[in-house]
Amino acid sequence: MKYDRIDQQLFIENRKRLAAKLAPNSIVILQSNDFMPRSADGFHEWRQSPDLLYFSGIDQEESVLVLFPDCVKEDFREVLFVKKTNEYIKVWEGHKYTQAEATETSGIKKVLWLDSMPTILNELINLADHVYLNTNEHDRYSSPVMTREDRYLTDFKRDYPAHSIKRLAPIMKDLRMIKQDIEIALMQHACNITKAGFDRVLDVTKPGIWEYEIEAAITHEFLCRRATGHAYHPIIATGDNANILHYNENNTQCKAGELILMDFGCEYANYASDLSRTIPVSGRFTDRQRDVYNACLNVQNAAIDMLRPGTNLDAYHKEVGKVMESELINVGLLDRTEVSKQDPARPLYKKYFMHGTSHHIGLDVHDVGHRYATFEAGMVFTCEPGIYISEEGFGIRIEDDILITDGAPRNLMADIPKTVEAIEEKMNTA
Ligand code: GLY
Ligand code: MN
Ligand code: MN
Repeated sequence: MKYDRIDQQLFIENRKRLAAKLAPNSIVILQSNDFMPRSADGFHEWRQSPDLLYFSGIDQEESVLVLFPDCVKEDFREVLFVKKTNEYIKVWEGHKYTQAEATETSGIKKVLWLDSMPTILNELINLADHVYLNTNEHDRYSSPVMTREDRYLTDFKRDYPAHSIKRLAPIMKDLRMIKQDIEIALMQHACNITKAGFDRVLDVTKPGIWEYEIEAAITHEFLCRRATGHAYHPIIATGDNANILHYNENNTQCKAGELILMDFGCEYANYASDLSRTIPVSGRFTDRQRDVYNACLNVQNAAIDMLRPGTNLDAYHKEVGKVMESELINVGLLDRTEVSKQDPARPLYKKYFMHGTSHHIGLDVHDVGHRYATFEAGMVFTCEPGIYISEEGFGIRIEDDILITDGAPRNLMADIPKTVEAIEEKMNTA
């Protein structure tokens, strides 16, 4: 692994928290991710299933995790199946977990080779009253491609038609949306690496630089610090490109006077960070750019302060919308009288701020979580208001990752330059 081994206590605790949420005498079967084919003999970069990782830390393909907390066969309450290496794999792919290493990583004593799984798992399944299987129930997910979990579910229904299958996904949302201390430390580490990327951007940006050169500088900083890479495709958008929300061609030259909107974040130990900053190519904001930037920052400051226990995403988004409305009036983009007459179902601010303010972040950048859950300490959300003005050729987004606590919200990106003054100072210091 590129990252330092994670304390197995995280996985041990996560398995305990899972056990407390299962129906009596249930078995949970989790599959690792497939290698996704690309073309010819190529594959896309492999990434472990976050749910399997969450309970085991096992970051290797073809692994299966079986959890059966009430199993009458006590030493089969936690079983990990991993693939056995051989001379061929050693030469062509390199090291795979030994059983002892898999135990050390996960805290699971019973680690067996994958080829022994069919017989053993069959017996365990027949001892259980319920079988929890995993599916991707992310609100934004839709894909015709079957995952290893989908295929297992299909096969399972054929092989065990009379068994009671339960959905694991709602429990995964319950668990993963509250971050444990070890996870928060890993996320803070990811944010610190992302800061190094942004510091470098402030050093190298000047008129004439290309968006892809900025991307390359960020990638360099990430990889030099043992990040796996980017947590998502980075957006480096100069001028009007910023008004294409998912722009990621990163293929335009940056001109004097433009603003560059950047949305990037590293992934460290499978944990994501997600930052947006908007900076002037020439190192100084124009008066108009500064006014709109500060309007966006005012919204972000107000929104961060709302990330506290007790509210929920829907109520929070409505409140943030009101602050945005008022800031857009202040910078002359909306008219107060027209706002007072607007259809509340279609608020006028959406013309300039058309996306949500916050999403959960964790093992996935748009992490799993219940949409209508009340905010609780331990949740980590992004906070990312934006103002997009195509007519004026620029767009602004400011995004930080925020931990909800029982007291004030904790900004995991608090030391990443953000005010007009801090950005200008850094860009103009040799
Ligand atoms: N970088 C993706 C997002 O901000 O949601
Ligand atoms: Mn982002
Ligand atoms: Mn985001």
